[in-house]
Amino acid sequence: MPKRSKQNLKILLRHSAIQRRVKAMAAQITRDFRGEHLHLIGVLKGASIFLSDLVRQIRLDVSLDFMAVSSYGKGHQSSGQVRLTKDLDTSIEGLNVILVEDILDTGLTLSYLFRVLQQRKPRTLRIAALLDKPERRIKQVKADYIGFQIPNEFVVGYGLDYAEHYRNLKDVCILSPPPE
Ligand code: IMP
Ligand code: MG
Repeated sequence: MPKRSKQNLKILLRHSAIQRRVKAMAAQITRDFRGEHLHLIGVLKGASIFLSDLVRQIRLDVSLDFMAVSSYGKGHQSSGQVRLTKDLDTSIEGLNVILVEDILDTGLTLSYLFRVLQQRKPRTLRIAALLDKPERRIKQVKADYIGFQIPNEFVVGYGLDYAEHYRNLKDVCILSPPPE
């Protein structure tokens, strides 16, 4: 496994376990939306790997779009202020939408995005997050599909980064020491 100097990676979730869980989540989504069209919205960049595995296991007519956000403030601590840096390409009015995120941490990002999307009158709006750190929650968010609840550790891999590094790791790993 590649390693940056002085940073240590410990596997938390193996690729095989992630694949099994993503398949189960996709099966659940397929059941919930049987016979309907589904529009998945990925939050760049972290959710891109999860979304690409998830969508290929969903047995429905699916379309995709992406959004990007940045939160003000340095390091990995959310400041609470979220800004849209890339908006959707198309309207979501009347669509069955699932917002797909890598991790639900404080909940600030997803509660902001949920509010923004809800105003655009989708038919249904749900949230799928690969990871959930419940201990860190500031804003309550109802996530309909959760992959794994994890402890309060800083994790990288399978799309998640530290300063843009490690997104390409196949496993989800705990980074130590954690970022400042
Ligand atoms: P929230 O707004 O605090 O829920 O945080 C959401 C965003 O913070 C996620 O989309 C990630 O980009 C980032 N984040 C939170 N925890 C971690 C982590 O453990 N590793 C990498 N990124 C994280
Ligand atoms: Mg993210």
